[in-house]
Amino acid sequence: MRTPMVAGNWKLNGTRESVRELSLAVAEGAKEFADVDVLVCPVYVHIGDVAANIEGGAVLLGAQDVAMQDEGAFTGEVSAPMLVEYGCTHVIVGHSERRALFGDDDATVAAKFIAAQRGGLVPVLCVGETLEEREAGDTEAVVVRQLKAVIDAAGVQALNNAVVAYEPVWAIGTGKTASPEQAQAVHQSVRQTVAGIDASVAQSLRVLYGGSVKAENARELFAQADIDGGLIGGAALKSDEFLKICSAAAGLE
Ligand code: 13P
Repeated sequence: MRTPMVAGNWKLNGTRESVRELSLAVAEGAKEFADVDVLVCPVYVHIGDVAANIEGGAVLLGAQDVAMQDEGAFTGEVSAPMLVEYGCTHVIVGHSERRALFGDDDATVAAKFIAAQRGGLVPVLCVGETLEEREAGDTEAVVVRQLKAVIDAAGVQALNNAVVAYEPVWAIGTGKTASPEQAQAVHQSVRQTVAGIDASVAQSLRVLYGGSVKAENARELFAQADIDGGLIGGAALKSDEFLKICSAAAGLE
């Protein structure tokens, strides 16, 4: 059985005070969900504060991106060993916003995935198609290409220590969620792609869905056979909404 995971990607949001309130509330509420891995991903500058706020609780801490390098003359970057030192266990790599706005191509994403694991972090690898790609019938090809770029660079066994998140770009922040059937079809093809190389890695790989997940649609999505939880953006900024999504992943609501 795969333990469900609900991850909050807070993106570029929050004051020091609002992040304090949010992280304390999530840490308190998450105590109810022992059977769900609850992860929060604040901006870099808030990571130290959030680590202190969630200390001793069950919430996991992640970053939203990571350097390909461990140290050196790479102004503006933050490396995996540094994130580990501040209490991170996970990091998102290949988020569509990084791919679209900051030039993270498949090779860069694979290098970040490898750097994350080298430094002791579990990468949460995001894959997903744009609306144009979906309408052209290329969804599966795009997602498989993004996934294979990492498998080719890191080896399939690396997925034993990673999470995949399917985030259709057209569903991110738009209020348009993929239907449970649409999401399941892509999740299944992710798992089958991995199974084609190594069945046991595929069996234990967690594949999260992201894209306008809310309390009201989470349950239906998480009920799909190959959906193992969610990567939540906007709805992760409200603790009550986020905790309801955790509750849905726990099968409680
Ligand atoms: P929304 O939940 O706001 O659509 O964002 C999804 C996302 O990009 C999480 O990484």
